[in-house]
Amino acid sequence: MHIPVSSRAPDRAAALAQYRRRAQGYDTELALFEPIRSEAIALLDLRPGDTVIDVGCGTGLSFEPLHRRVGRKGRIVGIEQCPEMMAKAQARVQEHHWQDVELVCAPAETAHVSVQADAALFHFTHDIVRDDAALANIFAHLKPGAHVVASGLQWAAPWMWPTNAFVLLAAVYSVTSFEGLGHPWDRLTAHLRDVQVRTTLMGGIYIANGIYEE
Ligand SMILES: C[S@@+](CC[C@H](N)C(=O)[O-])C[C@H]1O[C@@H](n2cnc3c(N)ncnc32)[C@H](O)[C@@H]1O
Repeated sequence: MHIPVSSRAPDRAAALAQYRRRAQGYDTELALFEPIRSEAIALLDLRPGDTVIDVGCGTGLSFEPLHRRVGRKGRIVGIEQCPEMMAKAQARVQEHHWQDVELVCAPAETAHVSVQADAALFHFTHDIVRDDAALANIFAHLKPGAHVVASGLQWAAPWMWPTNAFVLLAAVYSVTSFEGLGHPWDRLTAHLRDVQVRTTLMGGIYIANGIYEE
């Protein structure tokens, strides 16, 4: 089987092509993982009026639960590099008449962010959490004490081969590098304190959270 991903750095051109193809059916494909989104967002510990960065926001599936927590006085900044995914996010914002969502169509590593945020979400964004430049740009826009949550695919224990077969298939379809798939959170959590990592779906999914400190 040819696996079109490498163990090296994420590949931007490949990621753009991958999500250009997936944009139309993306929301349906993600339905299985929605309970994980809820759990990840709850860990952000958002308060009314907070600002949250949704990194690699895709079609904006997290906007509604984020909006419910930060309220009208809060702010959501969605960063997404794929124009087709961003168009879906934009349509969602318009449909709901959200005034407090700012969308930035750019790579996370160079996106211009105009806020210092109280929280950042990296939900199913393996290519981003393995990219030091992307992490540096996002962390530069977080207040000390900001809550950070990342979630996504990971290799389960080696003997959990059915889980790992699922992770392999899902990863081929959704990431451009397998680098760090055994411990996807570790570059991110190197910047955090009070880190907690839990796994679900028989070890094939992680949710990591912690508090940013400069
Ligand atoms: C699996 S989707 C997750 C989307 C969204 N977070 C969600 O929960 O549904 C990964 C998203 O990250 C985006 N992405 C990948 N690399 C990126 C980068 N370097 N900068 C910004 N977006 C990126 C992809 O275009 C895609 O929309």
